[in-house]
Amino acid sequence: MKVIADVEELRTTLGHWRQRGETIAFVPTMGNLHAGHLSLVSQAKTQADRVVVSIFVNPLQFGPSEDFSTYPRTLDEDLSQLNKENVDMVFTPCEKTLYPEGREQLTRVTVPVVSSELCGQSRPGFFSGVATVVTKLFNLVQPNYAVFGQKDYQQWLVICQLVRDLNMPITMVMGTTVRESDGLAMSSRNQYLTASERQLAPRFSHALLSIKKHLNNAINKQNLLHLADTAIQEGIATLTAQGFKVDYLSVRNKMTLCLPCENDSPQDLVVLGAVWLGKTRLIDNVGVKS
Ligand code: PAF
Repeated sequence: MKVIADVEELRTTLGHWRQRGETIAFVPTMGNLHAGHLSLVSQAKTQADRVVVSIFVNPLQFGPSEDFSTYPRTLDEDLSQLNKENVDMVFTPCEKTLYPEGREQLTRVTVPVVSSELCGQSRPGFFSGVATVVTKLFNLVQPNYAVFGQKDYQQWLVICQLVRDLNMPITMVMGTTVRESDGLAMSSRNQYLTASERQLAPRFSHALLSIKKHLNNAINKQNLLHLADTAIQEGIATLTAQGFKVDYLSVRNKMTLCLPCENDSPQDLVVLGAVWLGKTRLIDNVGVKS
């Protein structure tokens, strides 16, 4: 497994592979890898001849009061896990490599509308930070396939749109959310939870599943919209009573993230949520018919 931090070396190695006609699947990460990331790597392996993973904790996507400085950085363990998975290359740029002129006057990529609500509202600048670094990484790696997890569903839609809008010849592949045995979606931020918060945390995914179940019981479309409203209100009340601070719970069209309309059927919808447990923000989502 090649571990490359330098852009020229990255381009040379990728160039050799491409000359041989080999295809490349890319998994961008911020490191601190868990089973969720490794399942994206497995999926990448089924898509292409070569698998490239990047590890970069991207400062652009953290707000001033967020956890950039404390975000877990575990490069040695990450590399050893990726080596076991037979990844071909890990790209580990430092900040100076990706932002040599600094961040102030950097060209930014902004994906309108789909970035604006839900996590976009609670974390201003987050999706532009993601879209900017992902665009740079895509330009550097020029993969045939890029694999992202369903857990970050709004991020998935943002990146799909940037790939379409900027005519990038990349096929987007979605990896399903990997969960702990009690239902909690795997995330590097789960380790911030105290023991008692960790016990409570799976109730978040249970709340999403309960909303999904309610919506699956809808017999007609009018009923569906009404049920979505009441199920969300119930979900918020239950989670709040259990000690969560709900940032949002929402049922949306799964392609546009617009609120459901009368033409939507359950298979068009996704239930998304973000909650705080103490100092930890968790996100998750479930398709209504999945
Ligand atoms: O999902 C993540 O880990 C990050 O947002 C990404 C896509 C690697 C960009 O920094």
